[in-house]
Amino acid sequence: MGAAGAPRGRPGGGLMARLFPRDGAVGRAVDLRLLRRLWPFVRPQRGLILASLALLLTTSAAALAMTWVVMLIIERHVEGDSSEGLGVLLAWFAALALFEMLGRALGTWTVDVAGQNALLGLRSTLFRHLQALSSAFHDRTPTGRVVGRVTTDIEALQEMFSSGVVTVLGDVIFLCATVALLFTLHWQLTLAVLVVVPLLIGLTLWMRVRVRAAYADMIDSRSRLNAFLHEHIVGMAVVQMFTRERRVRSAFGGISGDMRDAQLRSVSWESVLSASTELLSHLTVALILAYGGSLLLGESLATGLTLAALFAFIDYMRKFFVPLNDLSLKVTVMQSAMTAAERIFHLLDHDDFIPAPKSVVPLPAARGAIAFRGVTFGYDPAEPVLRDVSFEVAPGERVAIVGATGGGKTTLLKLLTRLYDVGEGSITLDGVDVRDYALSELRSRIGIVPQDVFLFGGDVLHNVRLGHPEISEAEARAAADRLHLDQVVARFPLGYHEPVRERGANLSSGERQLIAFARVLAVAPAVLALDEATSQVDTRTEHLLQDALHDLTRERTSLIIAHRLSTIRDVDRILVIANGRLIEQGTHEELLRAGGAYRRLNELQFVSDR
Ligand SMILES: Nc1ncnc2c1ncn2[C@@H]1O[C@H](COP(=O)(O)OP(=O)(O)O)[C@@H](O)[C@H]1O
Ligand SMILES: [Mg+2]
Repeated sequence: MGAAGAPRGRPGGGLMARLFPRDGAVGRAVDLRLLRRLWPFVRPQRGLILASLALLLTTSAAALAMTWVVMLIIERHVEGDSSEGLGVLLAWFAALALFEMLGRALGTWTVDVAGQNALLGLRSTLFRHLQALSSAFHDRTPTGRVVGRVTTDIEALQEMFSSGVVTVLGDVIFLCATVALLFTLHWQLTLAVLVVVPLLIGLTLWMRVRVRAAYADMIDSRSRLNAFLHEHIVGMAVVQMFTRERRVRSAFGGISGDMRDAQLRSVSWESVLSASTELLSHLTVALILAYGGSLLLGESLATGLTLAALFAFIDYMRKFFVPLNDLSLKVTVMQSAMTAAERIFHLLDHDDFIPAPKSVVPLPAARGAIAFRGVTFGYDPAEPVLRDVSFEVAPGERVAIVGATGGGKTTLLKLLTRLYDVGEGSITLDGVDVRDYALSELRSRIGIVPQDVFLFGGDVLHNVRLGHPEISEAEARAAADRLHLDQVVARFPLGYHEPVRERGANLSSGERQLIAFARVLAVAPAVLALDEATSQVDTRTEHLLQDALHDLTRERTSLIIAHRLSTIRDVDRILVIANGRLIEQGTHEELLRAGGAYRRLNELQFVSDR
């Protein structure tokens, strides 16, 4: 194990540690604060849990009674010599065995149903929360890690139910009942064998500290593995293109090796623990046989111990050890469940939301008037990306935004749709501050064709409609046809029903852009914003699009971010953004005449276009 040790197998330790930092430590096995927070999800299932507790208790009682029946059989029909009544006892035994089997199956099933239902609720809550969290959160949190919360962490909680931790009360009652029975059988012998119990508890406690540390490492490495896997599967093509497979593989090997080591450590402590318990239980049987046997051989009449009672003793002791052994395993399960709960609630405690408006203001009809007033913004507030940007766009006006890469053009659109909120200044749409709109209302008025198109698995039409109930298939087709998407999909065997794979992997970037275009048009927004939306389509398609665009942009306010200046000559106004500032604005001719940045941009492109 040592040779493939963790630190050595983790290349580029510094960067890796920064990208995949440790992910929480293991907490206590029982954390009341966390249990209280879990309770609302478990509460609706309390009937089921009580039912399963009752079932498990009665089946345990049946198990105890079975031993008692066997003891009677030995007493009356093995030690004694009458066979009268044997049939009845055997029938009892069979009935109890059947009852125990059914009851245990039903009890386990019931508690599993309760657990699954509770976790269904928690999963839904988590997902809703993830949907509400802002871009700022999602931009900085590794996807794989978030996925882990909803999958592996929920699974750890699931284990809490399926391992029967919630019926631990039943175990305790069972143990007490067993001890009581043992005392009625023979109290001296009981006292003698119970000396192993403190031993067992001491052993468990000692082990648990060790298991816990290993466990912390295990979930940490699993979380890092998730994040790493996700990122490198999505980015597989880049790794392959740059032939970095070896490097990535060795990084993966490092994380994966950490995981194995931690798993092994925790598993080996677990197995030592269960083997020791096993050993203790055998030792106890030996103790019973030695002490009990000597009592039996000596003056058995005086001590009241019979052979049958000795059998019962051994059998009860065996049954006694099962839940005791389980208890120590359940502590581990609880520990992992509490850790998972901690992480899940930590995620639920993130309140990185785009704040909802405090009061509802009457909203004007959507016309598409936009105003930026003194807008300053930075993803990191200390480093502004936009500085004091002010401009107005009249309803129906066509405005182009140009400028160097990284200048802040896309950021303007993110602020307009409140993916982020402005630092200073304000943005209004139709005279109302965007922060006073309900998010859904605001976003339904603005349609953005983004720079990086994201498509979902499904078909072309699904990606245009995005499950919008009010967009009929015909409307979606109409929107697509207007963009001449029909000419593109004519090449697909299944036309508009051509399957689109995850992230649109089977389509060209241009095709993806066209679909994103149609997606926006299908909702007919008052404001249309295009973020280099035709950068990937060929010139012929672009010409077709330009025609369609000409119509489309005449009907509504449009913001067009463009690199190819030739595509924006006929807009009403051009804004030039440089380093987060609005440095020039005017029509194509005005800006050319002014001889500033726009003119220089134009000359550069004119030269390179030749
Ligand atoms: N999510 C983000 N987190 C932090 N910085 C960002 C983020 N998105 C963009 N930036 C930074 O903001 C600046 C402006 O980006 P952007 O508005 O996308 O420029 P562009 O004009 O090319 O569209 C860039 O310097 C970029 O590095
Ligand atoms: Mg951009």
